[in-house]
Amino acid sequence: MRDSCVYDCTMIELDKHHHEKGNISVVENDRTIPFEVKRIYYLYDVPGGESRGGHAHKELSQLIVAVSGSFTVTLDDGKVKRTFLLNRPYQGLYVVSGIWRTLDDFSSGAVCLVLASHIYDVNDYIRVYDNFLNYKHK
Ligand code: TYD
Repeated sequence: MRDSCVYDCTMIELDKHHHEKGNISVVENDRTIPFEVKRIYYLYDVPGGESRGGHAHKELSQLIVAVSGSFTVTLDDGKVKRTFLLNRPYQGLYVVSGIWRTLDDFSSGAVCLVLASHIYDVNDYIRVYDNFLNYKHK
């Protein structure tokens, strides 16, 4: 989505079923998030000081959850940047397509779960920031 902006991205509060033996949080297609999950992946063992992401997607939407630990996600639509701290397993950051994202400041043991609207497609990525700006301003 060329004309998407960072204000289209929101923190979604997930269901949290509290139980003395532990908690459960739930994500349901089309109900919790406005897309159908086609792929799940997760980042873990990210070395301290490492930065991940550094790209945008043309079509893909995502929900990003810090299921363990914490990290920051900076979103950039070519005009405005917003930074979110993800540190709760019952919150997910909904990121629409057409947004440059960078993930930083991973705590030790952090696990970044990503629910994605499409299967992996290398052609959906924009990996060069100048190309991203051209794409957005076209
Ligand atoms: P990449 O998306 O570049 O990681 P990040 O943006 O989080 O730093 O992916 C890293 C590598 O993993 C790259 O070689 C492609 C591969 N990969 C897959 O094969 N399938 C996937 O679903 C994902 C997300 C990555």
